[in-house]
Amino acid sequence: MRSPIFEQATDSDLPLFVFYFFFLFIFFFFSFDRQLRDLVSCPNTRKEFYFVNQNNVHGYNTDTQTTTTVLKDLTYSPTSMTTGEGYIAAGGQRSQLTVRQLATNWFAQATVGGSINNAMTISAYHNQARLLICNNDETIKVYSLPSLQRITSISLPTAVNYCSVSPDGRKLCAVGDSNQVFLYDVGPGGSYQRVQSLTAVSDACFSCAWNQSSDKFAVATQDGFACVWDIRSTEKVAKLPTKQNPQVKGAARSIKFSPSGSIDLLLFSEHVSYVNLVDARTFNECQSIRVAPPHCDQHISGVSYSPDSKSIFVGLETTVLEYDVDTMSRRSFPEGSII
Ligand SMILES: *[C@@H]1O[C@H](CO)[C@@H](O)[C@H](O)[C@H]1NC(C)=O
Repeated sequence: MRSPIFEQATDSDLPLFVFYFFFLFIFFFFSFDRQLRDLVSCPNTRKEFYFVNQNNVHGYNTDTQTTTTVLKDLTYSPTSMTTGEGYIAAGGQRSQLTVRQLATNWFAQATVGGSINNAMTISAYHNQARLLICNNDETIKVYSLPSLQRITSISLPTAVNYCSVSPDGRKLCAVGDSNQVFLYDVGPGGSYQRVQSLTAVSDACFSCAWNQSSDKFAVATQDGFACVWDIRSTEKVAKLPTKQNPQVKGAARSIKFSPSGSIDLLLFSEHVSYVNLVDARTFNECQSIRVAPPHCDQHISGVSYSPDSKSIFVGLETTVLEYDVDTMSRRSFPEGSII
């Protein structure tokens, strides 16, 4: 049965939120299926993003159109990559971990134990950088940076596919190979206390994200939905189907809220060929964008906003696309209006 929220989500070919894109001419080879696919990141400026290419992690400068290599000739093909607090980290199938400080040559390598490092996130706890590693061994391993000392290991009842720390640093959301969504409080002393389990849809969940003010979070599900909650309620605020739902290729993979400014959008990628942008105030307008050529599906390696929310990067099999967010019309967008 379709919920009212499901019904409200309208689809549009009109360029509601993004209107323009550039092909960035980087040619690389990304071998699929490389797990859950959040392998594009843009931490500092819209002029530079990072992406995984075989056993390397590259940076690409969109101004000078040059590629640099930040992690070179790793002994593994990263299944996960993240940036934060001035660091970049890559993780592998056999629990490999490589961390580098972006501004220096400092780097460290380790094997953290367990199996696949499905996803990682770097956040600050007080003034200390922390790296959280989601592993198939049903744990989130928490390390301090740069010491790479293990602070704790959080046990979950399922393989962990992704976790996300709220921008205020006080909450943690985690998802995995079940339809449950786990919420934690980050307590005094920096310990993690599970406070809630919510239900997404029927299938596993691939990723999760917080909005800018840390009071809304969203989850991308394998059965092709973006589910959104407000922390003040266990009822979903929205349950949005992907463009290709209920097909397997409509699985929702990576999900991100716009990180800054007055732009308030939710972005989520599908297994192949489509990304969706939704008005994160009303959830009643959706722009589904085909990022692959017609009649030729393409895997999506990840999606990322620039820190100013003005660009969106979409990783494909051999290139990365940059979309311009239509910030002018977003700012003059009266709440709840239909364009
Ligand atoms: C985040 O979500 C909350 C709860 O729905 C909302 O009140 C707030 O305006 C959102 N913040 C931003 C910056 O989008």
